Amino acid sequence: MVKNMVIFGPPGSGKGTQISEMKKYLPLTVIASGDIARSLAKKDKAVAQKMHKGELIEDELIFGELEATIAKIDQDTSLIFDGFPRNLDQTELLNKLLFRINRRLDKAIYIYLDEEEVIKRLAIRKVCEQCGRPLFSESKCPDCGGKPTVRGDDNESTIIKRMQVFLDKTAPLIEYYGSKNILVEIDGKQSIEKVAEDIKEALLEW
Ligand code: AP5
Ligand code: MG
Repeated sequence: MVKNMVIFGPPGSGKGTQISEMKKYLPLTVIASGDIARSLAKKDKAVAQKMHKGELIEDELIFGELEATIAKIDQDTSLIFDGFPRNLDQTELLNKLLFRINRRLDKAIYIYLDEEEVIKRLAIRKVCEQCGRPLFSESKCPDCGGKPTVRGDDNESTIIKRMQVFLDKTAPLIEYYGSKNILVEIDGKQSIEKVAEDIKEALLEW
């Protein structure tokens, strides 16, 4: 059955990692607003500067690209939004978009993690320079063969700012999706395998 989900949480909480885990048992199309932002930043210096500072970029910019992406997606595929919405205005944009394309949001997965662990993880993270997938000790990406690189926004001051932005702008989504009865709260401090298991268990309730 086709399902539509949002996954959100602080920087480094494991959103990208857990989507890779979910794809092992669920056919999923991923729409990652961070990837959209990174591709916009290549053409737009103002976007690159905002990202470098750890700030959100304008809703309209992200949403315009997201709408264009979604227009090309097959109706029969399940969707997961990684890092979108990021504030309450974006929840409304998403609601209207899903309504227009005849879908509804089934679950909002919130992975929680404390700041100390966020900083610890992101200080050592490497990602694939081509597709952005987090890498461990691999010398090249198992998905696309790209080389490991450090993300431009993974320095301590930017990580702290991203965490602050999460608390100020994104954390209100917890109450919002809670009130819609679609919130799934997951402890992100556990092992990758245990987090994946908890998410799978919550999704199997469908
Ligand atoms: P985005 O790319 O979405 O970044 P983020 O939210 O800061 O999150 P990350 O991608 O850094 O972390 P993650 O949760 O995916 O963790 P990961 O799985 O990699 O956004 C970047 C920027 O784009 C924003 O700051 C903003 O400027 C802009 N932007 C994006 N969306 C926007 C929007 N909607 N509106 C406006 N602006 C927007 O894991 C992290 C590390 O931890 C990895 O090394 C991984 O191996 C490790 N790890 C994962 N899980 C575990 C575990 N359980 N135990 C131990 N290690 C673990
Ligand atoms: Mg990510």
